[in-house]
Amino acid sequence: MTTKNVGGWSPVAMSDAVAPGAVLRVVVEGRDIVVWRGNDGAARAWENRCPHRGMRLSYGFVRGNRLTCLYHGWGYDGQGSCISIPAHPALTPPKTIKVARYDCAEAAGLLWVAAQGTNDPLRDPGGSWLAVQSIDIALPLDEVRSAVSQAEPPSDEDDGFPRPGGGDAAPPAFLQETLVNGAESAGSLLMFDDVRFGRKVLCALQAVGDDQTALHLLVSAEGDGADGAVRRAYARWGRRFRRGAGATERSSHRVVSATAAERHARPMA
Ligand code: FES
Repeated sequence: MTTKNVGGWSPVAMSDAVAPGAVLRVVVEGRDIVVWRGNDGAARAWENRCPHRGMRLSYGFVRGNRLTCLYHGWGYDGQGSCISIPAHPALTPPKTIKVARYDCAEAAGLLWVAAQGTNDPLRDPGGSWLAVQSIDIALPLDEVRSAVSQAEPPSDEDDGFPRPGGGDAAPPAFLQETLVNGAESAGSLLMFDDVRFGRKVLCALQAVGDDQTALHLLVSAEGDGADGAVRRAYARWGRRFRRGAGATERSSHRVVSATAAERHARPMA
């Protein structure tokens, strides 16, 4: 089965938000997707719907390199094929029972999802990146992109460092938009130079819905300043940006780590 509703590559989460054995629900353009990572380290993205009775697979759990649905325990291998039905242990599941899959890739410290077989090239800026935070914002992607481009850079309150030239001097242009892979920045990926820290700042935008966008914020691993100080400065900047942009708390991006009892308490999709 293939998925045709999500087009080109979209960032959906920080790579380290989905450790081996973890399951994460994400939404791209209104499409419900489960992202999970097996013990082999490979991340997969599937339609978040069990072929049996439609339970969200993000309520399920990972064992080895298979994902098991919480409801009746049907197990799916890494290619989305059903390989076990506990109620009929002697039955070999028909090959037609498969979960619809998305393409899934990792670049720039992020997990990316696209329709299976997409021709859209993955815009990988290269290099190593440090995750700062993911923020949900109740605005369309275009408005968030515009707001990011016009946002004030980290201030004294963000990092506690004095500005060159003293407090009365006009702040230097800390954020200068640059190009990704020599091409014009695409709608989902903005990269800036932070002149002060000698680092690059990556703002990866995910269209969750018409009026909901996720901003994934990262800084380059190479550069000046201690990693912790730079991350804290941008975490404060992100919180300030979130307040200014009328953001909401993240709820649709959650690593499933609840106990079995808690899982059973959740309503069926
Ligand atoms: S709904 Fe998934 S196993 Fe029944």
